[in-house]
Amino acid sequence: MPKGKFIALEGVDGSGISTQVGLLKKWFLGRGERVFATKEPTDGPIGALIRQALTRRVVRPDGSPLDDTTLALLFAADRVDHLRCQIVPKLEHGVHVISDRYYLSSFAYQSLGDDLEWIKIINSRARRPDLFILLVVPPITSQERMSRDRWQVDLYEELPKMEVILRNYLAVARRLKEEGENVRIIDGARPLEEVQGEIRTLVEGVLKVLD
Ligand code: TMP
Repeated sequence: MPKGKFIALEGVDGSGISTQVGLLKKWFLGRGERVFATKEPTDGPIGALIRQALTRRVVRPDGSPLDDTTLALLFAADRVDHLRCQIVPKLEHGVHVISDRYYLSSFAYQSLGDDLEWIKIINSRARRPDLFILLVVPPITSQERMSRDRWQVDLYEELPKMEVILRNYLAVARRLKEEGENVRIIDGARPLEEVQGEIRTLVEGVLKVLD
């Protein structure tokens, strides 16, 4: 049985990742293919802990937030658990997997507070996806989108920080490309359908590649 393909969508908060994942899932189903849409942080135990830390419902005994190094390790642990419990078994059974965020998120966000090389090391057990798609949206646009749809802001959602995260994403995406990973950078600020059209074209390219 051919293995499923693993696709990860990435971008700064408010860049439309979840919407595009939903549309891509529909497209796969419309083609009669088996697909599993998932996200990080996950709904598993480590993911739940991360969400509570990001919203400051889990803090240190003195009330301060968890530090960047601890969070980086939690994101990496959540990812390994996600792979073992969900992603790999699905791929092995021929199901395509689309993930809303994967290790590029850790490279872009956690390198704000720790050394990128170390972040890469702690994520080195995470398998390479067949395709990473980075949605590039100017942070001011992402922030406008978020203020329309969400009432809760998490730790990373302030504008200057978002600008640094976007720069990190672009730098790290270019570097991973040079290292042979399949990373595609697309303009996510266009109308939804146009962005989805480009995503589908990229995914079609990956589906043609036989293992
Ligand atoms: P979400 O809003 O997409 O659910 O993600 C929650 C936040 O977690 C978002 O601000 C991005 C951040 N994040 C990281 O900092 N590192 C990671 O590895 C992942 C997966 C998410």
